[in-house]
Parts: sequence; C-alpha cells; structure tokens
Amino acid sequence: MEDHWDAYWNRLEEHVIFRVEAADYVARLEAAIGFDTSTRVLDFGCGFGFVAELLAPSVATLFAFDASDHMRRRARLRLAGYANARVLGALAGWPSALRFDLILVNSVVQYMAREEFHRWLEQWRPMLAPGGRLVLSDLVTHNVEPLREVVDMLALSARRGCLMRVVRKALGELRHYARTRRVRPLFRIAFGELRERAGQLGLAVDILPTNLTYRNTRATAILSIPAADR
Ligand SMILES: C[S@@+](CC[C@H](N)C(=O)[O-])C[C@H]1O[C@@H](n2cnc3c(N)ncnc32)[C@H](O)[C@@H]1O
Repeated sequence: MEDHWDAYWNRLEEHVIFRVEAADYVARLEAAIGFDTSTRVLDFGCGFGFVAELLAPSVATLFAFDASDHMRRRARLRLAGYANARVLGALAGWPSALRFDLILVNSVVQYMAREEFHRWLEQWRPMLAPGGRLVLSDLVTHNVEPLREVVDMLALSARRGCLMRVVRKALGELRHYARTRRVRPLFRIAFGELRERAGQLGLAVDILPTNLTYRNTRATAILSIPAADR
C-alpha cells in the first residue's frame, strides 16, 4: 500500500522553488566539499533531478535514484541530454561494481522510517570508493519550526527574484506538505545513534558547522572511511 509520503511525492508537481533550492544546495556543496570532472556521484532521492542536472556537466558520472516512479520519470527526462548521467531503477538491478566518490542524500532521510535508513546505511557503505563520502544533508535533529522554515524559504525566493511566483504556487503545496507531516511525522536523527551505526560499518562521522541547505536549523553529516582503513 502507498504510504503517505509516497503518495505525496507521486503527485507533487514542479515548482520554481525546487530549482532555486537545488542551485543553492549545489553552490554550498561545491564550497564545503567540492567536486570536479573526476568525481563519480550518486544523487540518492534525486526528486525531479534539478541537483543532478546542475552537477552532471561538472562531474565524471552522475547516477540518480528516487523511490518514486514519478520522480524517476521526471529525472530521466531532465537528464536525457547528459551522456554521463543515468537514472537507476530498483536496487536489485543496480550494477554491483558501482563505486562513488560522493553519495548525496539531500533532504531525504527525514522521509524514511528509522529501520529503512539503517538498511540504506548498510547498502551505501560498499558503494563508497576509497576516500568517498556519504553526504547526509538537511537532517532533522530536533523539532522543526515550520513557520521559521517558510520564512527562510521566502527569504531565499526574494534573494533569487522569484518571491511572488513562490507565494502563488509553493504556499498552496506547503499546506499539503504540512498535512502529510502531521500524519507521518519526519524522522529525527540522533547523532549518537548515527555514530554508533556508522562505526559498526567502519565509517567515521563529521558534522558540518552549517547545513548544506538554507534551512540552518537542520544539519549535515559526512560519513567516510577513515584514512587508516582505506
Ligand atoms: C525533498 S525531495 C529532495 C529531492 C532532492 N534530493 C533535492 O535535493 O532536490 C525528497 C525526495 O526523496 C525521495 N525519497 C523519499 N524517501 C525515499 C526513499 N526511502 N528512498 C529513495 N528516495 C526517497 C522522494 O521521492 C523525493 O523525491
């Protein structure tokens, strides 16, 4: 049966704010972590593919995946012009030799059930190349303040010159988002537990001083194989 969040993603339409948020995230990612034409990237939970589209011209390979069929279809269309980009289907069909320098999981973990997140940690681990990093961003660590996040979103829209379009389109969508969140609350990550789970998989955890999105009450964790173990 379709879960509330599955239903939400499967009917979501594209809005200008998603493109704006993607550009903001990619700029922060480049400044904080960096990537170049040798970087192999997995964009996990790629949504409409806005982030993947921005990254594809600047990296070696770009694989994208999303649990929602609707999102995968949109991402496939968006990435069709990039020979180095591919949207993956169900995990069972992924090439076994996939290795990534960056596994990006932006604004996705909070929509997973805790057990599912732990299962994915185990799946991502062998996909990391030596020196590779798993970048979990926009993590919800404590009670979110929905009003503050809306204000931050409007401030970003104003800076990017699309405030009125966002007010017209995205605010209606936010009502639906808030309803879904009430029925199926976001998963809040506990760093102690993350460090413990990551440690069992031989991964070190670094928490960045600031999140990789404009939502500065949320957090970003970088998981990597310690140099001594590579
Ligand atoms: C807020 S959007 C983020 C999209 C994209 N990462 C970005 O930064 O623009 C969340 C996306 O995560 C996907 N998602 C949610 N749960 C997922 C899961 N368990 N596995 C894969 N994708 C998931 C949703 O379908 C949706 O497209």
